[in-house]
Amino acid sequence: MTRAVCPGSFDPVTYGHLDIFRRTAGLFDELVVATGTNISKSRLFDPEERLEMLREACAGIPNVTVMGFTGLIVDFCREIDAHAIVKGLRGGNDYEYELPMAQMNAHLTGIETIFVPTTASLGYVSSSLVKEVASLGGDVSEFVTPAVHERLTAKLAARR
Ligand code: PNS
Repeated sequence: MTRAVCPGSFDPVTYGHLDIFRRTAGLFDELVVATGTNISKSRLFDPEERLEMLREACAGIPNVTVMGFTGLIVDFCREIDAHAIVKGLRGGNDYEYELPMAQMNAHLTGIETIFVPTTASLGYVSSSLVKEVASLGGDVSEFVTPAVHERLTAKLAARR
């Protein structure tokens, strides 16, 4: 049984993430999409909300399981017996950010990271930009599912 983990903050999940999940899920028996916490990023949604949005968004993708994790990603991978970490790359900046993490994780436990290039038409989509555009009144409905869009709109309205 081959199991891979695709970790991220997913604050919130976008069609860019879903593209990576769909294209990667078929490469393994199981893809675990795992929402964790990046301590250097501020978050809009709490962990339970991010999990709920991920579960709704991934419901139709075969082989995908959604889980939350705390602590080190390598420990989580060991706990669930995952063989690889999957990360989507939009471009050079993502590579610069992801490479040291992949190397550190390989050093810690020997786990390999597989980089998957984002579909070109989604290369500019990120959770951060979606939040910024939405918070300034822009239309982000083409970048997230209707359920995520609804939650994002409600969350931003509650913050005003
Ligand atoms: O959405 P992000 O910022 O790419 O998600 C990053 C995340 C949460 C996957 C990463 O920060 C992570 O793996 N955090 C868990 C803690 C950890 O293992 N840190 C050391 C990484 S080398």
